[in-house]
Amino acid sequence: MSAKRTRQKTKKKKITPRKSASASKGPAIPGEFERSGRAADFIFSQTKLRPQIALVLGSGLGAFADEFTGATKIPYAKVPYFPQSTAIGHAGRLVIGKIGAVPVAGMQGRVHLYEGYSAKEVVFPIRVFARMGVKAVILTNAAGGIKREFTQGRLVVISDHINLQGVNPLTGPNDERFGLRFHDMTNAYDRRFREMAIGEGNGLGIGMSEGVYAGLAGPSYETPAEIRYLRTIGADLVGMSTVPEVITARHSGLCVLGISCVTNAAAGILDQPLNHVEVLETAERVKGQFISLLKAVIPRIAEAIA
Ligand code: HPA
Repeated sequence: MSAKRTRQKTKKKKITPRKSASASKGPAIPGEFERSGRAADFIFSQTKLRPQIALVLGSGLGAFADEFTGATKIPYAKVPYFPQSTAIGHAGRLVIGKIGAVPVAGMQGRVHLYEGYSAKEVVFPIRVFARMGVKAVILTNAAGGIKREFTQGRLVVISDHINLQGVNPLTGPNDERFGLRFHDMTNAYDRRFREMAIGEGNGLGIGMSEGVYAGLAGPSYETPAEIRYLRTIGADLVGMSTVPEVITARHSGLCVLGISCVTNAAAGILDQPLNHVEVLETAERVKGQFISLLKAVIPRIAEAIA
């Protein structure tokens, strides 16, 4: 084909502009604010309780929600837009009930980046809690102990985190109805709550301490070299969750308490491989202490945010 003919052909070709989502005939896709509002409305349609405190119960720690009185149990599958948990040790149920006189919401399991969810999907439940009027969240997780004193079975209050997950759930346009474009993370893990948890834990005879949590994407556990690196940069604990939730909770103005259950010594500390069965078994072993700690801390937090 000659160059002249090609030019003619190109000239004739019509360019049809792409339709934007708003210009299409179909219904507009609701944004995060609308979706979280609908999920919150649905939850409120299932219970008369209006929780001020919500808990995210990590790997093997979901049993705490079985302690709630007057509980309503809602499978995540029923809550509009809620992500479904696929990890072993995560029941995938939202429980609304009471601890003593305090109405609480408890997530038996969460979703993670390693399941293939986006950071925005991971934090959707936190947005829902914010839309429900929740004021404080208690985020719990299973973690590997980097600091040598953080041996298997220790409960550690998170004092700060290092985000090594490679993503931030707030990337993209900011919705001012949730919070500011650039929000402060200085006191992300509420100092008052941390003191309460350590005080109550020590009162119960649970040797409590504080540490910095490094959040990685997973799903592979770390290499020993990565653990040495994490120790060098100031991490005491390592896990695959929590960080996006804390960022979002603070963006939405919720106060945070973070508690890690050290389910194993981090890679390379002991001369043995890591596995998820051990993680779940350790969480099961400290269940009693974990439940007592949360039962003691929740009324204190309720008082602080009243
Ligand atoms: N590394 C990352 N995540 C974890 C670990 C660990 O050692 N233990 C429990 N969750």
